[in-house]
Amino acid sequence: MTQEYNTQQLWQQDKDHMIHPYTDFSTFKEDGSQVITGAEGNYVVDSEGNRFLDGIAGLWCVNIGHGRKEMADAIHKQIMDMQYYNPFGHTTNAPAAQLAAKLAEMTPGDLNHVFFTCGGSVSNDTALRVIHYYHNLNGKPNKKKIISRNNGYHGSTYFSASLTGIQGCKDQFDDIAQDLFQYVSAADMYRRPAGAENLSEEEYAQYLADEIENRILALGADNVAAFIMEPVMGAGGVLVAPKGYHKKVSEVCKKYDVLVIADEVVTAFGRLGQWFSCESEFDFVPDVLVVAKGISSGYIPLGAAIFNKKIYDVISQPQSEGGVLSLGFTYTGHATACAAALKNIEILEKENILDNVKELGPYLQAEMKAALIDNPIVGDVRGQGFMLGIDLVADKTTKESLFVAQKVFDKCLARGVVIRPIACKIVVSPPLTLTKENIDTLISVLKESLAEVAAEL
Ligand SMILES: Cc1ncc(COP(=O)(O)O)c(C=O)c1O
Repeated sequence: MTQEYNTQQLWQQDKDHMIHPYTDFSTFKEDGSQVITGAEGNYVVDSEGNRFLDGIAGLWCVNIGHGRKEMADAIHKQIMDMQYYNPFGHTTNAPAAQLAAKLAEMTPGDLNHVFFTCGGSVSNDTALRVIHYYHNLNGKPNKKKIISRNNGYHGSTYFSASLTGIQGCKDQFDDIAQDLFQYVSAADMYRRPAGAENLSEEEYAQYLADEIENRILALGADNVAAFIMEPVMGAGGVLVAPKGYHKKVSEVCKKYDVLVIADEVVTAFGRLGQWFSCESEFDFVPDVLVVAKGISSGYIPLGAAIFNKKIYDVISQPQSEGGVLSLGFTYTGHATACAAALKNIEILEKENILDNVKELGPYLQAEMKAALIDNPIVGDVRGQGFMLGIDLVADKTTKESLFVAQKVFDKCLARGVVIRPIACKIVVSPPLTLTKENIDTLISVLKESLAEVAAEL
């Protein structure tokens, strides 16, 4: 039974009082928001009763699809058993302990120690704070600089925004601790740095690894703490690295005792057809694996930074009489969120949802590319699994960006499909339960909408 809403009142309350993430106030103050009131399977419904195919899984996160009763039941049960109690010191709860053990079992290598948070940004912040602490305890207090990549997205807290290499995410905000952060090229096959345009994939991967090695040497290896990467860049436009890239850069980092953080906030829990993409898709095992989003499919906020044995062995050494690891949040290991994650993982396993991505991912990628690439404003269509990005261009030869993604979004919405516009790029990241028929709808709606936008220019 869905609830009845007074749409006009909701719209007004929201417009008057809620500050939305990433909002264009030039239109928001006039138009307000679309109010989403229902969600089931691969669809969402707005307060006017309009139904939309969810081409972005909420926001890269609703991996098992919307509105699952099993999730509601598991959450309800946990609330009735014990909804929350603090996890500080030597207190724990059943779902948190079980989920930590489950993650340790599922993750590659010796990534066996889990610190829970409420999302991706805070997990990245936590990873960095722990890494600095680790180097301090290891007698290397100068190892503090972090290398990140242009176009990488790592979150919106002060620290994770500094990690983020998308300049538009930081316009007019302050950049704190600027000397801590360094940026290298994105592993972008479509827009390569000058001099790398004609390299083979392998040569290009080497070129990018050399850039990181040179940066470490220029900064001094004793000053560099870590390198962070999304295995496939998400918000930067779904950028798939050249083959061999991850292994090469991980080896460079290892050579200089620079820890590798894999930000798998988007790519973990099935989006690329694997539980975690680092080892199974890209042949590297990071020192820290950061997850969020798909861990609970967005039913309840949850994130985690998962550390390897090398780091744990150092940070878990007793420091002094009564000294503690001074790190923690009220909601670390939140019982109800962890119960939701356990049920979410069980559903992904039981229904073989990762196999759906393995089977339909190549179809989505190939068919979308074939359908769109001849459109005059489509410069590139690329992706992997259930992540797909489209570059919009004014000129296919010069690759000059064309900032019309919002128009494409509006036209798709009018046709009953939600995609994600990011300035001159479009991103698709649907629930992993998407059917072949859903994919065909997604493709035909994007094709028609892009054709209409191109014709109106
Ligand atoms: C790769 C990546 N890392 C971190 C984050 C930040 O996660 P959150 O928004 O849960 O803080 C995001 C969010 O989209 C992301 O895509």
